[in-house]
Amino acid sequence: MPRHPQRLWEKLDKDDIIVLRAVEQLSPRYEFAPVEVIERKARLPPPRILRSLDKLNQLKLVRRNMGSIVGYSLTFYGLNVLAFDALYRRRVIDTLGDRIGVGKEGEVYIGLTPNGEKVIVKFHREGRSSFQRIRRLRSFVMNVDRKQWHRIAKMLGEREFKIMVVLEREGAMIPKPISWNRNAVVQQYIPGVELYRIKELDEETANQVLGDILRTIEIAYNKVGIVHGDLSEYNVLVSEDGRGYVIDWPQYVYKEEPNAMELLRRDIEYITSFFRRRFGVRIDPTAFFNKLAGAS
Ligand SMILES: Nc1ncnc2c1ncn2[C@@H]1O[C@H](COP(=O)(O)OP(=O)(O)O)[C@@H](O)[C@H]1O
Ligand SMILES: [Mg+2]
Repeated sequence: MPRHPQRLWEKLDKDDIIVLRAVEQLSPRYEFAPVEVIERKARLPPPRILRSLDKLNQLKLVRRNMGSIVGYSLTFYGLNVLAFDALYRRRVIDTLGDRIGVGKEGEVYIGLTPNGEKVIVKFHREGRSSFQRIRRLRSFVMNVDRKQWHRIAKMLGEREFKIMVVLEREGAMIPKPISWNRNAVVQQYIPGVELYRIKELDEETANQVLGDILRTIEIAYNKVGIVHGDLSEYNVLVSEDGRGYVIDWPQYVYKEEPNAMELLRRDIEYITSFFRRRFGVRIDPTAFFNKLAGAS
């Protein structure tokens, strides 16, 4: 596990963390922060800074630019290590375990809290593909300079965590949000499987899972005022006790946004047609859509 945030973090000493943070803080202003600027920011003797920069570069937590001016930028792994460091110091995470489910644009790990509670830590990367359909965010994401990808990754972490707090409060069937730092979101681990991997389900369980999903769509729309926007059998977990949990929320849109209705219709259409094809559950998507859209 060479890219594992905790394994990488364990190799670092105090100097390395200070220098890594300095490179992060300079990233809005410099594509590659020059060494002298890092020296001023980190406030350590230059030889120690150079030693740390070499080490961080070897571990691929920063990237070195060999131009006329040598400079450094933060990598995705460097950002993950800083997020892990903060979550560890705040006693949110004690141990980061195996990486699970290779995500579209990020990495998802199992973790343990200091109390031994099993959690999921999702490190956001960028979000370009999940924002492809979402016009407002697409223009935001596309307008941010490519070299400022960490701004987007952090925005995704904050967005996902904060909306999960509201959804949870309103009674949506989602994993309990626990904490967030930078691009990392910590949430309750749901023991179970992704819906797309389930080939058969008895009628009662299928109805219960679909009921949980539809209720969550309804709560999101009526009580929170949002549409998930990327709902499918890939973003639903079915727990061991046969309940459905909707995951992966960072691309949500507010219902007042121009494409919200189109996304709501699509979310409902995708999920009901999956249940029809796979388990023979018949729910009229148009009637459900009209019930929601008409009620607002
Ligand atoms: N709370 C959770 N409990 C258990 N597994 C999860 C949880 N959240 C995510 N996963 C696993 O990680 C995968 C990716 O998570 P997801 O939030 O959909 O991110 P993305 O699709 O953007 O990579 C899921 O398909 C699932 O296998
Ligand atoms: Mg997903």
